[in-house]
Amino acid sequence: MVYYIRFLKPPRIHREKARSLSISSLITVMTDLGDSFLAEDSDLVVSLIIEGSNKVLCQRTLNWKAGKRELPISLGPLPEQLSQYSFILCVSTASPYHGKLQLADYLLGNSGIPLVISGWSPPFGGPQLSVAEKLVERRFGLEEGVTLRIWEETGNSIARHIWDAALASVIYLHQAVSGSKIVTPQLLELLNNRHKPFNAIELGSGCGIVGIALAELLPQCSVLLTDLPEVEDIITRNTSTACLAPNSETQYQNLDWDEELPHDLCNTSIDLILISDCTYNADSSPALVSVLRQLTRKSPKAIILVALKRRHDSEAVFFDLMQSAGFGALDKDIVQLPSQYGEFDHIEMYCYVLERASLETTI
Ligand SMILES: C[S@@+](CC[C@H](N)C(=O)[O-])C[C@H]1O[C@@H](n2cnc3c(N)ncnc32)[C@H](O)[C@@H]1O
Repeated sequence: MVYYIRFLKPPRIHREKARSLSISSLITVMTDLGDSFLAEDSDLVVSLIIEGSNKVLCQRTLNWKAGKRELPISLGPLPEQLSQYSFILCVSTASPYHGKLQLADYLLGNSGIPLVISGWSPPFGGPQLSVAEKLVERRFGLEEGVTLRIWEETGNSIARHIWDAALASVIYLHQAVSGSKIVTPQLLELLNNRHKPFNAIELGSGCGIVGIALAELLPQCSVLLTDLPEVEDIITRNTSTACLAPNSETQYQNLDWDEELPHDLCNTSIDLILISDCTYNADSSPALVSVLRQLTRKSPKAIILVALKRRHDSEAVFFDLMQSAGFGALDKDIVQLPSQYGEFDHIEMYCYVLERASLETTI
């Protein structure tokens, strides 16, 4: 599993007596679930950047030691004249500016992601804002010149975080679109040989990383992101800053699997349904599968892409329910993510469709 830099105390600017400034923050390096901390030593590069520029004002390397739960950051003293600027604090395992990949530290599509995912703070400083909002931004290069930028909350909300299966879904979709991975021919055809605009829906989209990545990768692609109302703010923040491919768009709509499907949910036929890390709670699986059944009643040829990191045996319920509901897996694949001590974690990817027998009863 990968580890994420989180700001336990958001970066703050202090005006010192000796006409100088200093910056402080408190970070941790933990899993998506927040259930364990990075248990190996790692050098972390802390960079203070002037907002809106690529200028690194100061940089320090700190050492995260195995067994730690948090790491204080302190930068300065800095000249008082800098108080007119807003800053961004980036904490990364490597300097954030290297090679041609300005602003993003790794190419997600090539699966070259590191064990520790960098964190970028919101802007702080300037005349008004001495402390940053409780958010952290992830920046992933999809390809050179295309950066996927996603905000997460720094707190413990399940919904308003990026989960490992979402990273795997983005890697998988990128590889499928670029042709660097052999995927099921139906998905390949859908993504790469389209003669019409493409419609996708994401269920339980959290911060929206998977659906937004798809709309950044594919032109003429319309993605409807859905989740519980608590994610609306963070998704709106992420969709409003996304750099979408030509003629692509994203929208958001609340969709609770336990409630009746809104009549106005999708007026056009859906080509692809995205689900990542939504099967961890076996109690939710019947409602989730029921939503899939209703969506495929209107769009019987839709492909359902399910990504999951298996956390416990009870998740098998989802697969049994999918089979009983008439869905068949076209393909099963694995995306590897780095894990501690040079090992790898396996994220399972499934492509489902309604099987012919069920299809015939649907039409
Ligand atoms: C572990 S998070 C995964 C988020 C995102 N897909 C990702 O992989 O980063 C599970 C998501 O399912 C959503 N969810 C859980 N129960 C739901 C329900 N009954 N209706 C709609 N969404 C639900 C949560 O709000 C959350 O965003």
